[in-house]
Amino acid sequence: MSAPASAATARGRRRHVLDLDDFSTQEIDEILDTAVSMKEVLGRAIKQVPTLRGKTIVNMFFEDSTRTRISFELAGKALSANVVNFTARGSSVEKGESLIDTVRTLQALGADMLVMRHSESGAPYLVAQHFHGSVINAGDGRHAHPTQALLDLFTVRQRLGRIEGLKVVIVGDILHSRVARSNLWGFTRMGASVTLCAPQTLIGPESFWKATWPDLTITSNLDECIMGADVVMTLRLQKERMEGGLIPSLREYSRFFALTAERVARAAPHCLVMHPGPMNEGVEIMPDVAVSTQSVIEEQVANGVAVRMALLYRLSGE
Ligand code: CP
Repeated sequence: MSAPASAATARGRRRHVLDLDDFSTQEIDEILDTAVSMKEVLGRAIKQVPTLRGKTIVNMFFEDSTRTRISFELAGKALSANVVNFTARGSSVEKGESLIDTVRTLQALGADMLVMRHSESGAPYLVAQHFHGSVINAGDGRHAHPTQALLDLFTVRQRLGRIEGLKVVIVGDILHSRVARSNLWGFTRMGASVTLCAPQTLIGPESFWKATWPDLTITSNLDECIMGADVVMTLRLQKERMEGGLIPSLREYSRFFALTAERVARAAPHCLVMHPGPMNEGVEIMPDVAVSTQSVIEEQVANGVAVRMALLYRLSGE
């Protein structure tokens, strides 16, 4: 999906964050550097700076979320913005108000930035064409989850000191995963070598992926591709997006694709275990692996606040 013509302001500053496909290596590096400073703010006794005082951020969630919604709320508040949480349930959307009319209403109420999650791929792109401020995609359908990818990049860079040259394995329900797609843009742009691992039915045709990322490795053999990996990221089996019949059974899926301690032992000794959450423990990841010393799953969640602060700050132009 291409960014709207208004993706940048007249001064060349980024206006929207819709996916990572239009981010350069330099811009990603700058955001990760800014997130380091934001993390320092979050480590203080008083975790708040006045940077966005007077700005209004609306968290507009049309689909469930715990991590993304709360971390955007904490990020906005840590920057002293007015943060308003909008959920479709209980709003005039239930009376039939359209997405565009909802956006115009929020604009009339003074929103400067919209953070938006929607079950329809592309919905934030449509909103970006109608809203005068900035739009941040907090996850749209199967398409993109750019802020998750940025916090994943940040976590890896903080832990391993670099991204370039790393072997990154993304395993699981790739077909339905917006996290996989945005991480593909992010990790490949930053010079990592990415392997996608899934049953054939949960990845689709190899030619589809290779058309955009020709250097990708695609496989259904986790035991083999995990060998020597620096990062292994497992994805949730998205039962709500499956049209049925894509895997024989959960037990069969786990047998070949779950992250077990034995499998992780085949990776590099420093290998990071990642999961964007929410997890189906016992399906794509075993409970002992999720809390092992190699797991950075809780760190990913915590880093989400600093990375989202960095984005809000940069989009505000302050
Ligand atoms: N990773 C992620 O998007 O989690 P939530 O659905 O809880 O926001």
